[in-house]
Amino acid sequence: MGILKWGIEAVERGLVPDRLTRKVIRRLCAQRLAEEQVRSAGHVRDTGWLRSGPIAVATDRANEQHYELPAEFFQEALGPRRKYSCCYFPSPETSLEQAEVAALQRSCELAELQDGQEILELGCGWGSLSLWMAEQYPHSRITAVSNSTPQRVAIEATARSRGLSNLSVITCDVNHLAAGPRQYDRVVSIEMFEHMRNYERLLSRIAGWLRTDGKLYVHLFCHRTLCYPFESEGAENWMGRHFFTGGLMPSADLLEQFPDILRVTRRETWDGRHYQRTADAWLTNLDARHSAIRSILAKACGPRQAVRALQRWRMFFLAVSELFGYAQGNEWFVSHYLMEQPG
Ligand SMILES: C[S@@+](CC[C@H](N)C(=O)[O-])C[C@H]1O[C@@H](n2cnc3c(N)ncnc32)[C@H](O)[C@@H]1O
Repeated sequence: MGILKWGIEAVERGLVPDRLTRKVIRRLCAQRLAEEQVRSAGHVRDTGWLRSGPIAVATDRANEQHYELPAEFFQEALGPRRKYSCCYFPSPETSLEQAEVAALQRSCELAELQDGQEILELGCGWGSLSLWMAEQYPHSRITAVSNSTPQRVAIEATARSRGLSNLSVITCDVNHLAAGPRQYDRVVSIEMFEHMRNYERLLSRIAGWLRTDGKLYVHLFCHRTLCYPFESEGAENWMGRHFFTGGLMPSADLLEQFPDILRVTRRETWDGRHYQRTADAWLTNLDARHSAIRSILAKACGPRQAVRALQRWRMFFLAVSELFGYAQGNEWFVSHYLMEQPG
């Protein structure tokens, strides 16, 4: 067994202190940067693989890995609004709960949302943005889409309990989504594009669903310059294998490469330390609610697998924290884009 494989096995069994795990992750980040820089000419300049094939690949694996887990798991692990994406911490004192709200508010501002608009949300997760929009914009009609049934059931239950009737949720893989023609003032999407591959096809579809003056708002995590797919082979690709099969690390300029379909008119960046703090807060929740989470996972994957599953989630949050905290959050970070139809 290679040393890395052996180390991963030890971490998955909970035998390695977090301090050491974090140090190894930082070293793997440096290695990843060096390797990707060598390969970058191929990936960044030739975007052929972003313009062919299905919109998203390995969609069942992503569902197994995250999105079909019981909603109760995310209720315990995430903040109160179950925002499963980067939150925004304006000050050192900001709590996760406040950071969820700050991020949702800023996203709505950046998307230029107004009451009365027809809004389509792609990749709605457990409804943080969908429910927020339904509450803040009571005269808007919100259609939220994800490929996960438990997400829809959880959002519908919350919407019912809050008396929100302007939100409907659709379970559909975006590969097969038919939402046109031209009905929406806004299409909004937070951290779903990282599960996509054929950006050209996806953006063309979205352009066809937008009214002529409609706009697309996308929140992405990304790398400063590199664009690479998450692989699932090899010990160093632990993240790709267990959490992100079929996923992509977009480069910060990726969405600017399709100006004939939709052109970027506004961009804002949050340094990666916002994601580091988000992941650290999720990790704190996992540890504080350890026994409740373990029994939820035991119901989902059996008692023997639950211990390892929980440890893998700890590793995942540690990895997110270190990746986005790397180089003071200036290598991997979060970027927001407002896009409009050309002309
Ligand atoms: C990282 S989560 C973000 C969730 C949410 N936007 C938030 O901020 O909490 C990604 C979302 O994209 C959805 N998703 C991923 N691949 C998809 C696909 N092929 N079709 C539809 N939804 C997909 C997942 O089910 C999940 O809801």
